[in-house]
Amino acid sequence: MRVLVADHPLIAHKLTVLRDKNTPSPIFRQLTEELVTLLAYEATREVRVQPVKIETPVTSTIGTGLCKPTPLVVPILRAGLGMLEGMTRLLPTAEVGFLGMARNEETLEAITYAERLPEDLTGRQVYVLDPMLATGATLIEAFKFLFDRGAADITCICLLAAPEGLAKLEAAHGDRDNVHIVLASIDEGLDENSYIVPGLGDAGDRLYGVVD
Ligand code: URA
Repeated sequence: MRVLVADHPLIAHKLTVLRDKNTPSPIFRQLTEELVTLLAYEATREVRVQPVKIETPVTSTIGTGLCKPTPLVVPILRAGLGMLEGMTRLLPTAEVGFLGMARNEETLEAITYAERLPEDLTGRQVYVLDPMLATGATLIEAFKFLFDRGAADITCICLLAAPEGLAKLEAAHGDRDNVHIVLASIDEGLDENSYIVPGLGDAGDRLYGVVD
């Protein structure tokens, strides 16, 4: 497993505004999209491409095209949905599947409550979107689900991670060289409710408001 913390002043600046509790939802959503587009630039460095022959107005030349099957983007509902637009802006031809996962607030285990994905992911490059890598439970389950269906490699884009969650993910999937995590920051740790500190609060609530 490889972990990349994208180091760029614009990423740090946008993340700081996201962290601010006074940033309202519309700005939070817009900044999340912008941040994801910047992170996606790093995350797609190894997207599979092939030579393609094209005609320019002047001559024929060999350029670069995305390979088939096209990459699959999988936002983890609910908060990952806020990252989708930022990702598809960079990869407009990607297919999109959905995984609905929530954590049981008592056991902190991940529960899969919805799934809309191809049955067969053999050979597919998969980009998972989940803003907060906190305990790691959700991503451990999501990666297992996707590898069981044959995914060739998984790149996960997160805004923030806690060291505890990264360690759990490393223990579960660390021996794989086809798992890649791209982040804007590794924070200090988790609080007693497993929220990331300093973090940005509940990403789903900040994107979409509190739903009881
Ligand atoms: N999920 C969130 O939305 N925020 C956290 O800090 C941890 C998990």
